[in-house]
Amino acid sequence: MTKQTLEEIAEAMVAPGKGILAADESTGTIKKRFDSINVESTFENRRDYREMLFWAKGAMKKNISGVILYDETIRQRTANDKQSLVELMMASGSIPGIKVDAGAQDLAGYPDEKITEGLDGLRGRLNEYYKLGARFAKWRAVITIGEHMPTYNCIHANAHALARYAALCQENGIVPIVEPEVLMDGPHSGHDIEQCYEVTEAVLKETFQELYLAGVMLEGMVLKPNMVIPGQKSGKKAKPEEVADLTVQCLKSCVPSAVPGIAFLSGGQSDIEATEHLSLMNSRHDLPWTLTFSYGRALQAAALKAWGGKKENVKKAQDAFAHRAAMNGLASKGKWTKAAEKGK
Ligand code: 13P
Repeated sequence: MTKQTLEEIAEAMVAPGKGILAADESTGTIKKRFDSINVESTFENRRDYREMLFWAKGAMKKNISGVILYDETIRQRTANDKQSLVELMMASGSIPGIKVDAGAQDLAGYPDEKITEGLDGLRGRLNEYYKLGARFAKWRAVITIGEHMPTYNCIHANAHALARYAALCQENGIVPIVEPEVLMDGPHSGHDIEQCYEVTEAVLKETFQELYLAGVMLEGMVLKPNMVIPGQKSGKKAKPEEVADLTVQCLKSCVPSAVPGIAFLSGGQSDIEATEHLSLMNSRHDLPWTLTFSYGRALQAAALKAWGGKKENVKKAQDAFAHRAAMNGLASKGKWTKAAEKGK
């Protein structure tokens, strides 16, 4: 296999009509997802669930450019032991990716804020993940909107860590997904769409300044931001067009056009909301970068529910996953419609 450049990998991750499946739930998070369908979170059940998604070959080939894996999954083999899960997804042309951060911990001196850890020993881990097939990685920083939050210290510390991570990835031939997530489920009732805009803008400006200082090549990265959206506790709803327009406005003022693509997280939006917002951004605006999806919950919720941990539901679950992937594929081209959603 010829060695791909960082730019080629990044371009392939955001290829037209495709996006990224975030299947990198940590052991704690996947347990929560499995609890919701009354399935025990065992090594085998986690494998069976993820294997089922990767076997949905039509969807994987057509709409899923890459999959973000968790450390356990990148080492796992299929139930019949014939191939690794990495080989399985690569057979459909999907690029393997890996979550490399070690999660968000309390930020010292700022008890309500978080700093993402995982830089120690990262060079060695990236080296190993490359050998296991990973060609891109993910690091997620979380920023909470609250009273007097986020502080500059929190924004700066997280942006700095993202930039150090991104530089290490590129040094090791791995494309970094840079994910500074402004949470939509923060505690603050005054967290409306304007506040989300302001905080997202501050976070993105700081992140790109740190990426610049760290010498990160923008052509060889993918940004994974939140959309500009009212907080869940605000009790406010914004029109889908408003979310789309403010998100694009914010990104245009912060993200250099050298970045090949932006792949959103869904962050707690319903799956259809996340699809509609993405589609409107693409249909209403001329954009300097590709805008696509890197959804976890919004790609998997329907499939997880349809599966329910039962073998006989595998086909139904794969169909649900394929439908969601197809809808988001349309959204990445600005072509999603309510009629398409209903299969018309
Ligand atoms: P959600 O789409 O469920 O927010 O997950 C995306 C992700 O990878 C968060 O890090």
